[in-house]
Amino acid sequence: MTALAASKEKARTAATEGLIEVRLASISYLADQVTLLEFQPLDGQCLPDYASGAHLDLHLPNGMTRQYSLATPFSGESYVIGVKRDPASRGGSTFIHDHLRVGHQLSISSPRNHFPLHSGREHAVLFAGGIGITPIWCMISELETAGRSWELHYAVRERRDVAFARKLAAAGLRARIYLSGDGPPVLDMSSVIDVAPPGSHFYCCGPEPMLVAFKSACSGIPVANVHFEHFSATVVASQDTGFKIIAKRTGKEVIVPPGGTILEALNAAGVETASSCKQGVCGACETVVIDGTPDHRDVILSDAEKASNKTMMICCSGAKSPSLVLDI
Ligand code: FES
Repeated sequence: MTALAASKEKARTAATEGLIEVRLASISYLADQVTLLEFQPLDGQCLPDYASGAHLDLHLPNGMTRQYSLATPFSGESYVIGVKRDPASRGGSTFIHDHLRVGHQLSISSPRNHFPLHSGREHAVLFAGGIGITPIWCMISELETAGRSWELHYAVRERRDVAFARKLAAAGLRARIYLSGDGPPVLDMSSVIDVAPPGSHFYCCGPEPMLVAFKSACSGIPVANVHFEHFSATVVASQDTGFKIIAKRTGKEVIVPPGGTILEALNAAGVETASSCKQGVCGACETVVIDGTPDHRDVILSDAEKASNKTMMICCSGAKSPSLVLDI
């Protein structure tokens, strides 16, 4: 098979899996150990639109799939993500930094969004930690374009870790940067939240300790005004097994074996399901629950959504009832 034929075959396969074939068009420096990657579609295909806060799956040539937030508003022509080389990388960010080069072709998913901006005109208070600035920067760009008010509180270790530094400097006092060095966090979220204008919406994307502090600081704020996104799961997948899954549309019934997940049990039975992170953080495997009570373990659904039991993430959640009927 020629290189062109192989490339077309790969594009056809990606299309049947709902993926988009793209080419890495540019790599640029964003901050220390952080690069900005721009992907353009092959053959002039149209890219799906997205709103700020969205992320996509990158299907890497080494077989790994990783989720990254879109860092800039949709231009119509490309997707831009920021990737930080993670010293504790399980292979994703290290591969990207060491092996991906301009011109490489790979598959991505359509953008998904579990971290959207509120639609009203209320003031937005944005908190970012480290590489968590990428979806937050996208939000700031959208807020600016719409003429809406915002303020940013951005925590990093060193000055060299600051992404979008020149643009943030141009924002003046609306963008505050907190340098912690090797010491404890210097950003006091409670004091920021306490003086925010009434009705403000609060957003946070950063490492887990920051999200824990954010949720604690927002404990007195209506949940509809509090928005956050996790980098990775802190949840433990359901250990309950032995329950039955009835896949209504495909007509299959499977038992989830010890140590397994609903997703794995369904895939082993030949039931095709969407999935990506398999950690309960991306939302790709969200499935409608027709009957039964899920044991929710993801970090995507809100408490109210979990209580409604209308959908569940089948990569990590289990069952509190002897069986679950799913719309699969
Ligand atoms: S695959 Fe990402 S939440 Fe289930």
